[in-house]
Amino acid sequence: MYWGHRLPASQEFAAPKQGKEVASFDGPVTVTPHEYIGWGGVLYVEPDLKVTFPDGNRDLVLQYVSSEAKANEISVRMKDIERAVFVTLVYRMDAATGVLAREAVVENETKGPIRLEQVQAATWNLPRGDHYRLHYVTGRWAGEDSLKVQPVQGGKTVLESRRGTTGAQNNPWFMIDDGTSEDQDAGEVWFGALGWSGSWQIAIEQNVVKDVRVTGGSNAFDFGYQLKAGETFETPWFYGGYSHAGVGGASRLLHRFEVDNILPNHPHEKIRPVLYNSWEATTFAVTAEGQMALAEKAAKMGVERFVIDDGWFGQRKDDHAGLGDWYVNKEKFPQGLKPLIDKVHGLGMDFGIWVEPEMVNPDSDLYRKHPDWVLNFTGRPRTEGRNQLVLNLARKDVHDYTLEWLDKLLTENRIAFLKWDYNRNWAEPGWPAVSPEEQKNVYVDFIRNYYDILEQLRKRHPGVEIESCSGGGGRVDLGVMKLTDEVWTSDNTDAYDRLTIQNGFTYAYTPAAMMAWVTDSPTWVNNRTLSLEYRFLSSMQGSLGVGANLNHWKDEDFATASKMIAAYKEIRETVQRGELYRLMEPETGEQSVTESVARDGKQAVLFAFLHSSTKNYPFPRVKLRGLEEDAVYSLKPIAGKASEETPVKATGGYWMHHGVDVMLKGDFQAAAFVLTRE
Ligand code: GLA
Repeated sequence: MYWGHRLPASQEFAAPKQGKEVASFDGPVTVTPHEYIGWGGVLYVEPDLKVTFPDGNRDLVLQYVSSEAKANEISVRMKDIERAVFVTLVYRMDAATGVLAREAVVENETKGPIRLEQVQAATWNLPRGDHYRLHYVTGRWAGEDSLKVQPVQGGKTVLESRRGTTGAQNNPWFMIDDGTSEDQDAGEVWFGALGWSGSWQIAIEQNVVKDVRVTGGSNAFDFGYQLKAGETFETPWFYGGYSHAGVGGASRLLHRFEVDNILPNHPHEKIRPVLYNSWEATTFAVTAEGQMALAEKAAKMGVERFVIDDGWFGQRKDDHAGLGDWYVNKEKFPQGLKPLIDKVHGLGMDFGIWVEPEMVNPDSDLYRKHPDWVLNFTGRPRTEGRNQLVLNLARKDVHDYTLEWLDKLLTENRIAFLKWDYNRNWAEPGWPAVSPEEQKNVYVDFIRNYYDILEQLRKRHPGVEIESCSGGGGRVDLGVMKLTDEVWTSDNTDAYDRLTIQNGFTYAYTPAAMMAWVTDSPTWVNNRTLSLEYRFLSSMQGSLGVGANLNHWKDEDFATASKMIAAYKEIRETVQRGELYRLMEPETGEQSVTESVARDGKQAVLFAFLHSSTKNYPFPRVKLRGLEEDAVYSLKPIAGKASEETPVKATGGYWMHHGVDVMLKGDFQAAAFVLTRE
């Protein structure tokens, strides 16, 4: 009936009427905005639920049965007009952000199994309107979160992953704006994000009467969940919200919602520590001494967490062997991990370690012992990616084995942090151990078991934090973020490329979870040379890490790094928890500027990047946002400088309406400032 600006509680609505038949070709059902519709009768838009019964019937017409309202939750129960298939829609409102969480629960109360061929979490109906624009991201490995905007027109756009996992090709969120403003922070925006780390789809449709609807849930491609008599199926949560402050306002609502409601320790998720990770420095060539030497250097700069990456286990010399064999490699760590862990603790840091639990190299003891544990179709090829196969986590034995070794690793070692990686997508997703009718349940059962392992580990080891990584940002969604404290944004650590990747990322996800490392220059990605200061400032827009080879650093590099890390610690609460404003987006010009304002309004942080000077033009004046007009703020540079005329102190009004002239000239230049409210 309504999705938009908050209305007074006293406002009432008349019961909605069915849409009117357009012609004999488009009956009432297909032009009515439905909350959740079964595929049956005259329905040509995306169904929420499509079922096949054992007798061949595929018609499903859901009708209202009852509803229940609790504090911030409403549930609506529906039933097929003839058969005992029930669907309960659940709605949970977060009053602070207006973000509504929706799911559907399907109950099979018939006497036999039913096959769910399409089961979505929810459909969102936008108000009737023209000129809508869809915002979403596309990407791939090392090129995640590239922002796209396109008109919503007659027909359908499907964002999806058929990969078995969230994937980097699209990310499961959308924003639709009313097309009235180019300003980040103006105009109406409707948005949503799906909490699911398996194959997913979000379909944006404009139907024949120009109604716009968005339907999302598990990907219908190759789907077919066998739901036995008496069983229930719970969909993922699909979160949706509304902002009248543009896509910027919509992002800020999402960030706040994630920090306060999604991240595992919400609302008391810890501030991200500054970490060091050795991957780009050593790749697979990790040794106890080598890691200790890096740890010493990292600790001196103010790093708080030391993470050893791939290569510490099994016969892992490169990516051809070892995955699956989760014992410490004796050649590299003759006395096990303890001496390194003790050393790291002695240096005042906590210790983290890389794992890739869902994968196996064919060249491993595990695969030699259990070749049947991987996804496969009997007698068919097993397509490798990075020389590895995917373990079928839907199997109970694989689930139990995985939980057991991870639990043991965390029990026997003082580990504060797991980097949980996932370096390929699915192929041949067969599950020969179960009946052909049940094999497609793998799309759901795999993910449920993945979530279960994360949940069990968190319960058994409450202090341990986890990062979700999939060759970079290939597994970032609100499902996994409920169980992991941070995500690896991209394997692309080129600080300039990162500006656009991070910009796309923050449309949907909070900078509190967005890990960003400072790595070596020239970068392996583009062979681009960037100053250490620039690299730091780019990474300081998220949760800071360092991934450079410290053995190659000079004294002045350590001095710069120590200074920047100290500065970051002063602003990180604002960056990670604050309100993000995109003042100039990296996609649209020669500059990129962001501002974060602390929740309590006492601090604001400004980052400015110049891609390339041309024709002696100055950097455009930067007008801040989100400050109090009359309050006085002092401005202090973290790096770079403002013009000589810039006052040391001025009102919020001055900073917002007059602005700051940032002095940047050259190629790949950067500056940052902190504003403190008096
Ligand atoms: C993936 C990750 C990297 C690193 C390597 C290790 O690519 O994204 O950060 O951990 O695996 O093999």
